[in-house]
Amino acid sequence: MNVCELPPAGEAREVVCSGRLICIANSNGTISAMDNVCPHRGGPLGQGIVEDGKLICPWHAWAFDTKTGVAVHSPNAKVEVYEVKVEGDDVLVKL
Ligand code: FES
Repeated sequence: MNVCELPPAGEAREVVCSGRLICIANSNGTISAMDNVCPHRGGPLGQGIVEDGKLICPWHAWAFDTKTGVAVHSPNAKVEVYEVKVEGDDVLVKL
């Protein structure tokens, strides 16, 4: 993935990475990568928005910390978060 494809601050995007659809989120310039499937009912997290370091699911507004993947309302609900590195123009996600 190229840095040009990154979502702007406050937005998220669905991206195919090694054959898997993941969610890339931009929280005030900090990029995170996480599973795209919401643990609530399977909503597409990459179609959500980012507010105050939380990715908000577009379906029923569950909020997940973009650093830890933990849901704000319940520590038992969590999405996998992946390591992201920007090297030059390349965005590398470790799945
Ligand atoms: S599917 Fe994500 S909050 Fe319901």
